[in-house]
Amino acid sequence: MHNRMMITGAGSGLGREIAVRWAGDGWQLALADVNEAGLRETLDLVRTAGGDGFVQRCDVRDYSQLTALAQACEERFGGCDVIVNNAGVASGGFFAELSLEDWDWQIAVNLMGVVKGCKAFLPLLERSRGRIINIASMAALMQGPGMSNYNVAKAGVLALSESLLVELRQVEVAVHVVCPSFFQTNLLDSFRGPNPAMKAQVGKLLEGSPISAADIAEHIHRQVEAGEFLILPHEAGRQAWQLKCQAPEKLYDEMADMAQKMRAKARKPTN
Ligand SMILES: NC(=O)c1ccc[n+]([C@@H]2O[C@H](COP(=O)([O-])OP(=O)(O)OC[C@H]3O[C@@H](n4cnc5c(N)ncnc54)[C@H](O)[C@@H]3O)[C@@H](O)[C@H]2O)c1
Repeated sequence: MHNRMMITGAGSGLGREIAVRWAGDGWQLALADVNEAGLRETLDLVRTAGGDGFVQRCDVRDYSQLTALAQACEERFGGCDVIVNNAGVASGGFFAELSLEDWDWQIAVNLMGVVKGCKAFLPLLERSRGRIINIASMAALMQGPGMSNYNVAKAGVLALSESLLVELRQVEVAVHVVCPSFFQTNLLDSFRGPNPAMKAQVGKLLEGSPISAADIAEHIHRQVEAGEFLILPHEAGRQAWQLKCQAPEKLYDEMADMAQKMRAKARKPTN
């Protein structure tokens, strides 16, 4: 059997679309989130798409809730083949203005949530020779201005994924990391940061994506099948990453210009 998947942050956005995509192949889904109404909607969509499963409230900041989720997968599915560490929150603000509490919150959800998910499920994945799919962001590779705490958390997810890729090869657990650029979801609802003008700027970036969460889920499905480790769903993201590898200074100059423009916009009063 190889058709049991656990997804965190499955009550909305990309997590939901990944659930629906794999449900289309008849998979059993363990759907976890802090948003229980969202989870129930996702389970309905999963059933309509041809899959099944269960929902469980799980805050990824709390390790005991993740081990309880792993236990539930044991009891209901007899194990788990794939985990998707997807739950995440948005933040923004220049380094000088971000508080240490903003940092703690961002790291606790977006980085330690993934560490805890991997740790809680590793015994099950070793048994099933399964796979880990971690949802990072282009922020892991590009470090844009006005979001240093998000950049660091996501770069940590990438570093963790690379570490696991090499450590877990011997036990035949596969690892993938996904780095999307901005796309439209409910991510802005979770935004936290010192400057409301920056929230509006992030909102515009989410709206501007040429591809949807469903497109990204489809891309991930194809790339996982192909055995790709680093998955970059956006064409512009692939180009930007190439540019950074070839001429990082050029990219830093562009980012510094962008920082200046963002600072000017953030200073304008919002009404
Ligand atoms: N939308 C984008 O532009 C974008 C770009 C790159 C990466 N990502 C990443 O994609 C992932 C999914 O985000 P999305 O865009 O679908 O946003 P979303 O807000 O629509 O979905 C995220 C889900 O995570 C859940 N969540 C938040 N904190 C949680 C916690 N502590 N424990 C459990 N669940 C929690 C939320 O309730 C929500 O249902 C995130 O990791 C995000 O950082 C998003």
